[in-house]
Amino acid sequence: MSRYLLALDQGTTSSRAILFDRQGRIAAIEQKEFAQHYPQSGWVEHDANDIWRSQLEVAQAVLKNNHVKADDIVAIGITNQRETTVVWDRKSGEPVCPAIVWQDRRTAGLCDRLRGEGKEELFARKTGLVLDAYFAGTKLNWILENVPDARARAERGELAFGTVDSWLVYKLSGEHVTDSSNASRSLLFDIHRCEWDDELMAVLQVPRSMLPRVVASSGIAAQAKAEWFGSPLPIAGIAGDQQAATFGQACLREGMVKNTYGTGCFMLMQTGAQAAVSKNKLLTTIGWTLAAEDGAAPQTSYMLEGSIFVAGAVVQWLRDGLGVITKSSDIEALAAQAPDNGGVYFVPAFTGLGTPYWDPYARGSISGLTRGSTKAHLARAALESIAYQTADVLEAMQKDAAIPLKELRVDGGAARNDLLMQFQADMLGVPVVRPQVTETTALGAAYLAGLATGFWHSQEEISAMWQVDRLFEPGMAADLRDELLMRWHKAVGCSRGWML
Ligand code: G3P
Repeated sequence: MSRYLLALDQGTTSSRAILFDRQGRIAAIEQKEFAQHYPQSGWVEHDANDIWRSQLEVAQAVLKNNHVKADDIVAIGITNQRETTVVWDRKSGEPVCPAIVWQDRRTAGLCDRLRGEGKEELFARKTGLVLDAYFAGTKLNWILENVPDARARAERGELAFGTVDSWLVYKLSGEHVTDSSNASRSLLFDIHRCEWDDELMAVLQVPRSMLPRVVASSGIAAQAKAEWFGSPLPIAGIAGDQQAATFGQACLREGMVKNTYGTGCFMLMQTGAQAAVSKNKLLTTIGWTLAAEDGAAPQTSYMLEGSIFVAGAVVQWLRDGLGVITKSSDIEALAAQAPDNGGVYFVPAFTGLGTPYWDPYARGSISGLTRGSTKAHLARAALESIAYQTADVLEAMQKDAAIPLKELRVDGGAARNDLLMQFQADMLGVPVVRPQVTETTALGAAYLAGLATGFWHSQEEISAMWQVDRLFEPGMAADLRDELLMRWHKAVGCSRGWML
């Protein structure tokens, strides 16, 4: 009997492959960072072949290093950095240009122009998104306008568009598909009808022939070719990383909320079969679609989302940009050397600000420095910025939600940082709960693939596997919290509109 689910977690800065056993425990893991490219201010690019090669390498390594054969694997689940836009030649399978990463701001001007033409409401109504450079649609338009011959080749049907899930499935299987959660981040997909939308394609001047076929997030989408793992393997789960993490956190009932601390930080609230409309600048997005059973209609779950563009990336910047730490995990000890932030506030708006500010022209700032400021204060301010940004998002979510939030489930690399999690609970005034498995993004992809292949049988079975590791209760006095947040908002003011 096959023993494992293989989850491929293609993130912004690294590719991971994780084997999960039937109890949802990690049996083995491999990870590889890959190169980031910043060719101009506000631009962020990846080489799509780096993405593919690093992902394949870790997937093959996790099998080989643990003496696991393809026969031991039930299925593959894929989860990915969302919105990052890849265009490739259908014949050669080669990308036509670097992938434009979700953090990239180069299409801020196009978004302004579309807003000026009164298109904001159209996009909000059909896609649930705000008109921001974050999403794939304007990046795809940029490629068609700026890469030599791209538009003519696309019109002739020679080019394919995909987000990273779609690119990986194509490389693994030759199929050109994406799932509804990834499609919902494109500005081209009507999230209510669950279809690509002709009117949006016309506005963004994207030919339909470029778009992938949309499949369920949980369901057999394609077969990975035998050349990669020794035998063909079904790809049975696909979801954007934040949606997958929501599934992995077993936020399966309405009103449940998770926050993932990765490169960025993304808070998602489950709203069930209804696409809730935010009045507070949150996004409405598709969580996942479960394939139909016995002729029934596929089930789509919707989410409200707050997106923070820089969270863990601020720690990487302290490591790689400033060199004040040598490895990311050193941040906790350095920050703990300072009893408080010493009045220092760090707004890591390296690529603008997302929810609730939606300011592509913001840039990073450090405020409140004195002669007594040290690198420990800077480390502390960097960690605190993650918690303050999350507090801003939670405030918007609390205003939108009918019922007060009881707890926040957390995951991702920085969720292992106790100092940050305690400060987070203090800032939110809500208990923060960390599960035993914090690799919930990959776990969610495994669950989606496992449900489709009978490895797991129901959402109830999945909910029962979720276990608490630690609960952080809020403990800070309200006046101190208000003071810190007040100064944070002053600091955010310094970053706003910087590039205008
Ligand atoms: O929307 C961007 C998001 O999917 C990136 O996630 O984990 O790479 O920060 P992560």
